[in-house]
Amino acid sequence: MNAIEIKNLVKTYKGGVKALKGVDLCVAQGDFFALLGANGAGKTTLIGILTGLVNKTGGQVKIFGNDIDVDFEGAKKSIGVVPQEFNFHMFERVQDIVVNQAGYFGIDDSIAVRDSEGILKRVGLWEKRRAIARTLSGGMKRRLMIARGLIHHPRMLILDEPTAGVDVELRHGMWEYLRHINAQGTTILLTTHYLEEVEQMCRNCAIIKEGEIVLLDNVRHLLTRMPQDTYRVTLKERISLEKAQAFNAVKVDDHTLDIEIKKREELNEVILRLAQSGFVITDFHPKGNRLEKLFLEIVSK
Ligand SMILES: Nc1ncnc2c1ncn2[C@@H]1O[C@H](COP(=O)(O)OP(=O)(O)O)[C@@H](O)[C@H]1O
Ligand SMILES: [Mg+2]
Repeated sequence: MNAIEIKNLVKTYKGGVKALKGVDLCVAQGDFFALLGANGAGKTTLIGILTGLVNKTGGQVKIFGNDIDVDFEGAKKSIGVVPQEFNFHMFERVQDIVVNQAGYFGIDDSIAVRDSEGILKRVGLWEKRRAIARTLSGGMKRRLMIARGLIHHPRMLILDEPTAGVDVELRHGMWEYLRHINAQGTTILLTTHYLEEVEQMCRNCAIIKEGEIVLLDNVRHLLTRMPQDTYRVTLKERISLEKAQAFNAVKVDDHTLDIEIKKREELNEVILRLAQSGFVITDFHPKGNRLEKLFLEIVSK
């Protein structure tokens, strides 16, 4: 069964902005799926429709087989949402925020209190359960949003740019946690404009541009379609133009080369050949992000 089935989804906002122009999209149960796109592409609109915050103009949406036009409540139960902005009450206590959310799904307080323990422990907030939300760090607030989204044990967690504005270290911690939830069986759909996030976590992805899906692919396959990586190499010794050419490199200056590497395995070879020719490498780093390049290539078409 598919977690999400979207057919010909259209959204035109009042005033005439066409945010979605006939989107078709399926996300399999158990998938870790990224909806990738620039600002204004339509990601939040699409998520808003799935979660009932935005009314669609046309098209069909099924969540685990439930058509949202027919059984929205049924569809809603299977979704946990983590919006981009912190939208809990800042003066409430951590555990209360999670427990109160359960009320919206008709879950008894006693059950919610019991379940919140496991969830808060998993997101590393159990020690903070009595803290006023406002006093939490940014990363803790983000984890609180996730805990709240999980209290009714949804089959799918939807996160809208979960790591936007989150520092690198915390981002990695979140990736690990989301991978863990996914491995436990929860389908995950997230939106992001961080390509690295897609590369690190997701199994499948779609790229949305101006309200249209322009690419739908398996992330591993996408990576094989990547343009070549260019590495910038700094050498202690000067290098001649002929020598640089012998390495298939572009000479940037007397000590600097740009070398194209097609496969990771070639890295070692290049380093070895440079060393064998008597060069000492003082710096070696990728010039740009490959996924970024491909993304730009796709969205600029
Ligand atoms: N409530 C709204 N009213 C009118 N236009 C909107 C509204 N929300 C979003 N839009 C417009 O719809 C388009 C898609 O926005 P959005 O879904 O927020 O994109 P993303 O989340 O990918 O940044 C943008 O052009 C945006 O300005
Ligand atoms: Mg958005």
